[in-house]
Amino acid sequence: MFESKSGILLIGGLGFFLLAFVSNAAVPMLMYRDLPEQSTREVVNANVMYQFEDLSVRYPDPFKKYFGQPTPEKCTEALELGRQIYIAEGCWHCHSQFVRPVSNESRRWGPVARTEEYQNSLQRPVMFGTRRVGPDLSREGGRRGNDWHAVHFFRPQQLSAGSPMPDYSWFFDEDPQQPGRPSPAHPNQRGLAIITYVQWLGSWLKSYPAYENFVPIQDQMAHPLE
Ligand code: HEC
Repeated sequence: MFESKSGILLIGGLGFFLLAFVSNAAVPMLMYRDLPEQSTREVVNANVMYQFEDLSVRYPDPFKKYFGQPTPEKCTEALELGRQIYIAEGCWHCHSQFVRPVSNESRRWGPVARTEEYQNSLQRPVMFGTRRVGPDLSREGGRRGNDWHAVHFFRPQQLSAGSPMPDYSWFFDEDPQQPGRPSPAHPNQRGLAIITYVQWLGSWLKSYPAYENFVPIQDQMAHPLE
C-alpha cells in the first residue's frame, strides 16, 4: 500500500492535515493557555472611548436618547449591540476580519492578525469571514471619522462611487424637518452601535491612528502588538 500512488497521497494528505492542526490549533492553544478570555467591558479601551465620546458630541440628541452619557458601560452595550447587528445584517458575508500572513496583506490593512486579538467575548464566535466583496475590517477603527461612517451606511455610493454595499437607512431616524425621511444626520441606536463597533475594530493596536490628547492603551494585552 505504501508504495502505491494512492498510499503516498493518503499519507501526504493525513500528514498535512496533522501539520495544519498542530500549527493552527495546538500551538496557539499552548501559547495562549494562560491568557484569560476578556469580557466586553474589558476590551473597552481609550481609543474606542474617544470615538464613543465623539459620537455623543456629534449627534447629541440621538446619543442622549439611546445611550445617555458616554460611559464605558454604555460603550460596552453599544459594542455588544453593534456586533449583533454586524451578524444580523450579514456584513460578514462581504467583509473579513482577519489580516492574513500572505500576499503582502499587511501593507494594505496593517499588522497580520494574531490569535490573542480574538481572546475576548466580543469575538465569540469569530467573524473571520471568507469572502471579501469589500475590504477586511479588522483594522478599520480610526481609519475614518464617525460622520464618514454615518453617511457611508446611509448611502455607500455617495462616498464610494459604484459601491455594491447596500444602504442601511434603518440605522437612521427621520429628519425632524422632513418627517418620514431618514437622515444621515440622525443615526438611531443601531446606527450609533454599528459605528462604535466598527471603530473598535483594531482599537487595541499601536497602529490605531493617533489623535490629539490620544492615550494609546497597550497594557490591555499581554504582549503589545505592532
Ligand atoms: C454586498 C456586500 C457588502 C455588504 C453586505 C456590506 N458591505 Fe461594507 N463594503 C462593501 C464594499 C464593496 C466596500 C468598498 C466600497 C465602499 O466603500 O463602499 C465596503 C466598504 C465598507 C466600509 C468602508 C471601509 C473603508 O474604510 O474603506 C465599512 C466600514 C463597511 N463596508 C462596513 C460594513 C458593515 C458594518 C456592513 C453591515 C452592516 C457592511 N459593510 C455590509 C461591501 C459590502
